[in-house]
Amino acid sequence: MTQPSATTAARILDGKAIALEIQNEIRDEVAALVEQTGKRPKLAAVLVGDYPASQVYVRNKEMACKRVGMTSELIRLSAATTTEELEQLIERLNTDEETSGILVQLPLPKHIDAQRILDAIDWRKDVDAFHPYNVGLLSQGRPQFLPCTPYGVIQILYRSQIKTAGKKVCIIGRSDIVGKPLASMLVQRSSPIGPDWANATVTLAHSQTPNLAAVTSDADILIAAIGQPEFVKAEMVRPGATVIDVGINRLGERLVGDVDFESVKEVAGAITPVPGGVGPLTVTMLLNNTLIAARLKNGG
Ligand code: GUN
Repeated sequence: MTQPSATTAARILDGKAIALEIQNEIRDEVAALVEQTGKRPKLAAVLVGDYPASQVYVRNKEMACKRVGMTSELIRLSAATTTEELEQLIERLNTDEETSGILVQLPLPKHIDAQRILDAIDWRKDVDAFHPYNVGLLSQGRPQFLPCTPYGVIQILYRSQIKTAGKKVCIIGRSDIVGKPLASMLVQRSSPIGPDWANATVTLAHSQTPNLAAVTSDADILIAAIGQPEFVKAEMVRPGATVIDVGINRLGERLVGDVDFESVKEVAGAITPVPGGVGPLTVTMLLNNTLIAARLKNGG
């Protein structure tokens, strides 16, 4: 009889496979919408300047649109673009009949007032869910759009059958893009997937949290979204916990997450890799939001 080993390596949650599964579903829904309305959902992506990571992200978004049968338009602007010029472009896209969703790739050059630009996007086309109206709806538990990365995290958990209801979830990182909206979603009474993927007891930890390791190692589900390479070490993780790594950092030649994958996978029960974890889900949920925006335009 074989003896169980003292430590069993974690189950690797394959974000790429989950993303492809969801993209297949979206592709069918796009085809049905085109059949019904004669109109193809279209994403307009605005890229200002030449920040290298943004070039990659935007290209991935364009390829993903193609895969599900959506149209995309990439609008490239020089780094010298002013806030006023960008605002005028947003206004044109807001009223453009063909455009279902608008995405302004972040970060914007420092001289541009990013908040003013994000506020200028029509909330009905706000596929990132960054507009204050959409943030407010989410906070009240009646979202129109769910922010892409947080919803991607919940989809990974759902499609891996890891429920959040009744669990202690610790999120490290209080950003407006990931930490805050994800906490907001997980504490709700339900989610679009149902009550089993909501109803968590959430701790939102950050750089000023005292004794962080004690807080993180109390969690059943630990989500790292801090933007620091390999920050989460094995000692910070409860044995058997699920660890979701939202980070994408360049460490020399390597792409690494916010979690020290090699050591943490020895204690965790389940873990997402980087790359191939949360990243593919972010793009996929953007496609989902573009489909929702296209339906909104066609009367819901
Ligand atoms: N830059 C990094 N993440 C994101 C995102 O989710 N949306 C946009 N628009 N820009 C980003």
